[in-house]
Amino acid sequence: MASLPYSWSITTTSSPFVTRPSHILINAKRSNRFQVSCEQNQKGSTKSDDTSHGKIDRRNVLLGMGGLYSAANLVSASPAVATPLAAPDFTKCTKGTNLNTSQPLDVDCCPPVATKIIDYKLPPVTKMRFRPAAHLVTEEYVAKYEKAVELMKALPADDPRNFMQQANVHCAYCNLTYEQVGDSDLKIQIHNSWHFYPWHRWYLYFYERILGKLIDDPTFGLPFWNWDNPKGMAMPAMFVKPSSPLFNARRNQNHLPPAVTDLAYSGTTQSVDTTQIISNNLTVMYNEMVRNVQNLEDFYGARYNTGTQPDPGPGTVERGSHAVLHVWVGEATSSGEDMGNFYSCGRESLFFCHHTNVDRLWTIWRDLRGSKTKDFVDSDWLNASYLFYDENAQLVRVKVADTLDQQKMGYEFQKVDTPWLKNRPAASAKKSKIATTTAAPSVDTSTFPVKLDKVVKVLVPRPQKSRSKKDKEKEEELLVIEGIEVDTAKFVKFDVFVNDEDDNPNALDKAEYAGCFSQVPHKNSSLSKTKIRLGLSELLEDLDVEDDEKILISLVPKAGGDDITIGGIKIIYAS
Ligand code: C2O
Repeated sequence: MASLPYSWSITTTSSPFVTRPSHILINAKRSNRFQVSCEQNQKGSTKSDDTSHGKIDRRNVLLGMGGLYSAANLVSASPAVATPLAAPDFTKCTKGTNLNTSQPLDVDCCPPVATKIIDYKLPPVTKMRFRPAAHLVTEEYVAKYEKAVELMKALPADDPRNFMQQANVHCAYCNLTYEQVGDSDLKIQIHNSWHFYPWHRWYLYFYERILGKLIDDPTFGLPFWNWDNPKGMAMPAMFVKPSSPLFNARRNQNHLPPAVTDLAYSGTTQSVDTTQIISNNLTVMYNEMVRNVQNLEDFYGARYNTGTQPDPGPGTVERGSHAVLHVWVGEATSSGEDMGNFYSCGRESLFFCHHTNVDRLWTIWRDLRGSKTKDFVDSDWLNASYLFYDENAQLVRVKVADTLDQQKMGYEFQKVDTPWLKNRPAASAKKSKIATTTAAPSVDTSTFPVKLDKVVKVLVPRPQKSRSKKDKEKEEELLVIEGIEVDTAKFVKFDVFVNDEDDNPNALDKAEYAGCFSQVPHKNSSLSKTKIRLGLSELLEDLDVEDDEKILISLVPKAGGDDITIGGIKIIYAS
């Protein structure tokens, strides 16, 4: 954003963190507040363009500062505050509603209410917890972990540290059971947004400390399912022994070991050979961790604050390997319990192993950034807060800012290879001519919205071409697929290809494969509207089509296409 005029008269938040002018909020009463947003209008995905809430668009401000001054006058001299997502009020937890039928859900995941909430301070670290790769653990470790889970299951049912209570923590934060504090019209959903990594990091943190306390081992760390490495791609052995407390019968029986994790899974087990699956997996990981994530938002997910509609947009790992693996593990039914549905996945010990790997991938990604910015500096992110019960059953309020130093959180991961890191896929057709010969319509003449009940091909114009190295370093070229409407109760997935000539939807190990969108089903059926962004700069280099004016985009439905509508596609440049 351009620097502001000196006469800018609004005080910014007193947060210790840098607050960009784009997040200034003048807050008087909820019904009378004005937000200056740097984001484009995203009807349905945020409320920032909703004049009924008194908010105004940044572009209007830039067009005429007078608009803002009069707005400022209206709300008098009240101090500005940020609007990070606030921790939920447990006393207002509801069962959640099936928004399609308006019926309450048949599951109650509301946590016990406590009168006292403690602002959590990370305790001094005396001993580091060690998180091992699940396929490399010793028998002794497994015995310890089993004992801890057994004790957790044996706690009184109303103890917030009890196994089912812990499972319900996840359910409550994802099933739209909490209203947003400060905007009771909207619900809290910590998925499909920039809360994904920090919220799950806290969830694992307390889960691990509860287990460690139960076996009196302050070094106990959760194992990670190393599904990004061929050596760890099968379900880890400790979870599939029927006599173990880590066992869960509600799993897809076709996916028990030695089946290899399919990160491109589409809901039906296909007869793709293992070599192809592994090769696909490594490409998926490379895309999610390297190629598609030049910008923070693309890795973390989109901004989500008080006043934002749920599901503004998931990051690469969240909507890809992470979501797909949930569904791959769960029962082969449409609701996919336990792991394949957000309300029940916390009942599956393998869930925590899965998410410990997601947490590890976050750490790896931050390390890979080197000198580049690793985290948002927005106070709306850093000051966002959540509530959890700690290992002493005390209700604590935690902040995103405290998740960013893993040393201070007191745990480390076993070091293993990251074979995807050097796995930059080659193009299957260099200098493809398909964009000039195709009969596919251009995005401006074809009709959006379009239903993904079949493959949709469309030519998308590039506002800039032949960009210099410097331009590319400054701004990533991004394919934006917006207005993605899905029923949140369904598993849906589609893949995106650029200038793809061979049209083999099972081979993802090529530069033409741009990425995917997939969603883990929820219990609360509702219509969600979201967007994804896919990094194109490196992909177009690899296809050698940087001078082309248009690219051919194929959207290939893989699961639940009937339930996916796409609102539009465009190319933007952003940093
Ligand atoms: Cu909160 Cu993998 O989900």
